Order: sequence, then C-alpha cells, then structure tokens
Amino acid sequence: MKTVFDKTRMKNLALKNRLIRSATWEALADAEGHFGEEIYRIYDELAAGGVGCIINEFTSVYEDDYPHAGMARLSNDVLIPEHRRLTDTVHAHHVPVIVQLAMDEYQGKKIDALSSADIDAVRELFVKAADKAVLAGYDGVQIHAAHGFFLSRYISPAHNHQTNTPETLIIDIAKAIRANHPDLHISMKINSSDFVKGGLDENGSMRVSIACAEFLDSIEVSGNGTSAVGIKAGVNEAYFRRYAAALAKNVGIPVILVGGHRSMENMNRILNDTDIAYLSLSRPLVREPDLINRWESGNTSPSKCVSCNMCYRTPAHRCIFRLREGK
Ligand SMILES: Cc1cc2nc3c(=O)[nH]c(=O)nc-3n(C[C@H](O)[C@H](O)[C@H](O)COP(=O)(O)O)c2cc1C
Repeated sequence: MKTVFDKTRMKNLALKNRLIRSATWEALADAEGHFGEEIYRIYDELAAGGVGCIINEFTSVYEDDYPHAGMARLSNDVLIPEHRRLTDTVHAHHVPVIVQLAMDEYQGKKIDALSSADIDAVRELFVKAADKAVLAGYDGVQIHAAHGFFLSRYISPAHNHQTNTPETLIIDIAKAIRANHPDLHISMKINSSDFVKGGLDENGSMRVSIACAEFLDSIEVSGNGTSAVGIKAGVNEAYFRRYAAALAKNVGIPVILVGGHRSMENMNRILNDTDIAYLSLSRPLVREPDLINRWESGNTSPSKCVSCNMCYRTPAHRCIFRLREGK
C-alpha cells in the first residue's frame, strides 16, 4: 500500500514524501533576473512546510526573453550567487530543489522560421543554464516543455511543420546535460494535450514522452490551461490523471502528476490505483505553504484552495485569502 508519506529516492533526490511543489512563478525578479528579498522568505516558508521537493519556477535560459514580469533567469553567471542563496535556503530544511529551465521566445521568431543554427543555439542555452544550475547548487533541472512556451510550441504540430520528430531537440538537450552532469536529476514538464485543434494531442504527447524517457529521470504531466478553476475535493480533482496513468504504464521513469490535487484521500487513491509515483501541487501551497505538515500532523481536511486563480494577479502571487488574513 503506497501513501503520500512514503520516503523514496528518485535518482539523486531523497524525498521525505511523494508530494512535490510544482513550478510557480513568483514574479519577484527584476528585468535582469535579480531576486528581491521576498523570494527567499517564500522559499524558506515553503521548504519548512513539509513538501518532499520543490521545483522553483519558470526560469529563463535566455537573456533576451521577457514572457512575463518578474520572471527568474539563469541566463547569466552574475545570477548564480542569488540562485545559490535560494538553494541554500531550501537545503537548510533538507528539501531537494529543482530549477525549471524555460524559454518563451527566441529572437521573436516563430517556430517554423527557426534555422538549424537557431535550434543549435537554443539547445546550447538550455545546456549552459544547466551548468549554472549545478554551480548554484540545484539538485536537478526541469526542462519546461508545457503550457505553450517555446519547447511546448516546438513539439506541437500546430507550430512546428519542419520536422516529424521535434522531440530530438529535447533529447539533445537532455543528453548534453546528462553528459556534463551525470548525477543531476533531469525532469521534463509536458502537456498531456495542448487542447487546441491541430496541436499536440495525447497520442503525440505519449510518443514524445516515450522517446524522451530514456534520457530523463522523471516526467511531470500537465496540459494547456493547467490551472483549472472550480476544483472541489472529491469531485473533480486531478484532471490529467487518466492520461498520466497511461503514460506511467509506458515509461520506466517516475511520472509526476500535477493539476487539481486537493485531498490526501484522492492522492493516496491515485498512488494505489495507478503507477503514478508522485503528485505535484501549486495553488494549494500558495494558499497554505504548510499544508503538508498540517496533513502529516493528522489534520487531513482538504486544501483550503478554492481555485479562484486570483494568485495569478496579486503582487508576489500571494493568495488573496491569505492577504485578507494578514499573512
Ligand atoms: C501563480 C502561478 C504561477 C505558475 N507558474 C508556473 C511556472 O512558472 N511554471 C509552470 O510550469 N507552471 C506554473 N504554474 C502552473 C502550476 O505549476 C500547476 O501546473 C497548475 O497550477 C495546476 O496545479 P494546481 O491545481 O496544484 O495549482 C503556475 C500556477 C500559478 C497558480
């Protein structure tokens, strides 16, 4: 019988439970990627709150990439000490931390307009950012290939008409990172589906994931429109579960499922009814950074998150209910 509180190892990561903080953009960096003080307080609070592992947030590998305000970067060596302070903050609680390596635009070009030299340059940006991640003390990197950002569009037939095997770029990134850093955890976040006509569908995502799995240590399953609203415990939790369960049967590496986990009961059911190994959460930990400690201490009522998505709009992406509580 598996439970969310099983202690496990995932390659180099020692996890005290099966619950992972899914990447959550905090919007607390300046245009050059320098962190404000607030970021360290947030990660300290999160790491103290009981999660088994933290995936930080959209962290651009490219200097000239501005998808959203306050976004983190690991595109320049001058940023390494600030990321080192972040990893030290999390490690002080004996929690492993993974950086989500991402990019939105490369020189403003559409995917179909990229030359082979551009694609080589993009691969190098990810590989070089992984070098910086190691110097900064991260335990792993997550290649962000979900939610419509660059790699998500690159593997989507709606955007890439240049090749039938776009996963080669992700494989080449992962292979190069592994060659340079064999002990580093390499994860990938991918859409189960783009949910748009002509986009990456479940069959396409399955094909890409199976092809990449050999070069990865875990896969996190998400989908476009990832933060669904109106989630209720016991009613409509874990909305990518069916696809993730099928993927977990087809790959030999751990599958992490994100999206709409609100109750321990449902997560324990997923662990026992499927081969999904880990559950990741974002908004419930914005609402209650100490949720996992609360559950472990015996108060197992579901997450207080009402999935209103106001956290996308508040400063530092705080929960409006917490702000009202003066927290
Ligand atoms: C404020 C906010 C910021 C987010 N930032 C990221 C991000 O940087 N990278 C990412 O992959 N997903 C991001 N997400 C999506 C979450 O990781 C997650 O996939 C989604 O919210 C569904 O999980 P949940 O129901 O546990 O919130 C963000 C979500 C929220 C609410």
